[in-house]
Amino acid sequence: MPTNEELIAELEAKEAEIKEMGGPAAVKKQHDLGKLTARERIDLFFDPGTFVETGMHVKHHCHYFGMDKIDIAADGVVTGYGKVNGHTTCCYASDFTSRGGSLGEMHAWKIAKTYDLAAKMRVPMVGMVDTGGARIQEGVNALDGYGQIFRRNTLYSGVIPQIIISMGPSAGGAVYHPALCDWIFMVKGTSYMYVTGPDVCKAVMSEEVTHEELGGAKTHNIKSGVAHFMYDSDAEAIEGCKHLLSYLPQSVYDEPDSTYQEPTDSPDRTCPELDTIVPEDPRKVYDMKQVIKPIVDDGEFFEVQKHYAPNMIVCFARFNGHVVGIIANQPSYIAGVLDINASDKAARFIRFCDAFNIPMLTLVDVPGYMPGTHQEFGGIIRHGAKVVYAYSEATVPKVAICTHKAYGGSEISMCSRSMGADIYMAWPCAELAVMGAEGAAAIIFRRDIAEAPDPEAKRQEVSELFRKTFNNPYVAAASGFVDMIIRARDTRYEVIKALEALKNKKDQIPWKKHGNIPL
Ligand code: HXC
Repeated sequence: MPTNEELIAELEAKEAEIKEMGGPAAVKKQHDLGKLTARERIDLFFDPGTFVETGMHVKHHCHYFGMDKIDIAADGVVTGYGKVNGHTTCCYASDFTSRGGSLGEMHAWKIAKTYDLAAKMRVPMVGMVDTGGARIQEGVNALDGYGQIFRRNTLYSGVIPQIIISMGPSAGGAVYHPALCDWIFMVKGTSYMYVTGPDVCKAVMSEEVTHEELGGAKTHNIKSGVAHFMYDSDAEAIEGCKHLLSYLPQSVYDEPDSTYQEPTDSPDRTCPELDTIVPEDPRKVYDMKQVIKPIVDDGEFFEVQKHYAPNMIVCFARFNGHVVGIIANQPSYIAGVLDINASDKAARFIRFCDAFNIPMLTLVDVPGYMPGTHQEFGGIIRHGAKVVYAYSEATVPKVAICTHKAYGGSEISMCSRSMGADIYMAWPCAELAVMGAEGAAAIIFRRDIAEAPDPEAKRQEVSELFRKTFNNPYVAAASGFVDMIIRARDTRYEVIKALEALKNKKDQIPWKKHGNIPL
């Protein structure tokens, strides 16, 4: 019989061996590529000394192709829980140094079990992906492993926040695991995601493309919109994820306002610079971020999908210590028009905020939907409908402010009273109208302009008449579509008062199994 001392020594020897991961050569290769190991990533992510590893001694069951003689440390994935910013969080990190972090049946079981644990604990789940994909030797058992994870991603969507930090390869059907989560972080130069790699692109489509071009961080943050954040290194991406978590509740069951932080900024602070931020000359533009910055606590906001569809801004910020999701048109990029990508970006963010009880502020300056065959053939009707759907079904406090233009269908979409805005404010320069004055006058006064001795003078005259009649906030306010016309300088103060008043808002949508958002 071994002594207790010998048993402890045996445990420590096993732990030390597992912590070696794929061995010094594989670790060196990982470092040479500019990547951290799974265990280094975990160390950076969790508050010091809080990580508890589960499933360290799990082993694969595969016996094909000599696998029965091969031991894989922790089966190629580190799983467990600990504290992040003082809050319990579950996590897994693929260990690329151990057989390429490939996912077999037991590897997948460890991840799936950690998702189950996170859902039961009602805490966020973060996956650090760096994997060669399904472990080829395990065949369909590996595929089933992915399926088990996909289903959990779906079932726990809206229950707990699910985040992926992609820090290496993620290829094939495996990419649907990140795609089913709420947020994806990527690292420039080392992470890539695609359904079929460059070789298949070449063979099937005769396309020559690199890993980076096809599925790198820039591709997914700028072009495809698959990813939401992009950083230069593993360490920065991990820090970014921790920052995001500081804005998120632990789960849908969290106490309201669990993310409240004692404010250091005054709720009464005015922002005089906003009185003149909208240029009087309609041909000039302004940057909506220069509106967001002064009104939020300490000028701090955390932007999501910064590089994708920049005509729409979505971000988290705090007002008097309370977390708010901001959705804002960006007039300085293609006039802040609503197109396919901006609609998708806004709708997904709105649904996340609503799912996790985060109140929303919408800053409206939108000239309309993007015209053209590209948009129509791409389905702007279907994509634009997502914004309408997302706002309409959202039951969290919804405050909106029209800073300048709100024209036509996009006026309705961007959190109008009919979309359920609780408080809709407007600045004195706001124009809530069916369209711009010049365009409208050109249509309804076409004959008068054509028949006038000086058509250009007539055009200006009728445009001015239309502008005076319709393109101001007062007509909309007269019908109650605008609740308050506020001085721009008071925006921060008025938003704080509105959100404070709405903090116990209870709203219900009709019972249903689930809705059918246009996809
Ligand atoms: C088993 C794998 C593996 C895999 C890598 N390895 N991927 N073992 N199954 N899928 C092993 C390698 O054999 C090698 O083992 C070690 O991991 C490191 O891999 P390298 O190739 O040396 O690394 P690198 O040169 O950096 O290349 C990384 C890579 C490449 C580009 C990811 O490994 C690769 O192409 N792997 C296969 C990718 C793939 O086709 N996966 C299946 C996708 S299908 P040794 O013993 O030498 O250390 C899929 C379907 C999911 O995932 C569907 C879900 C529905």
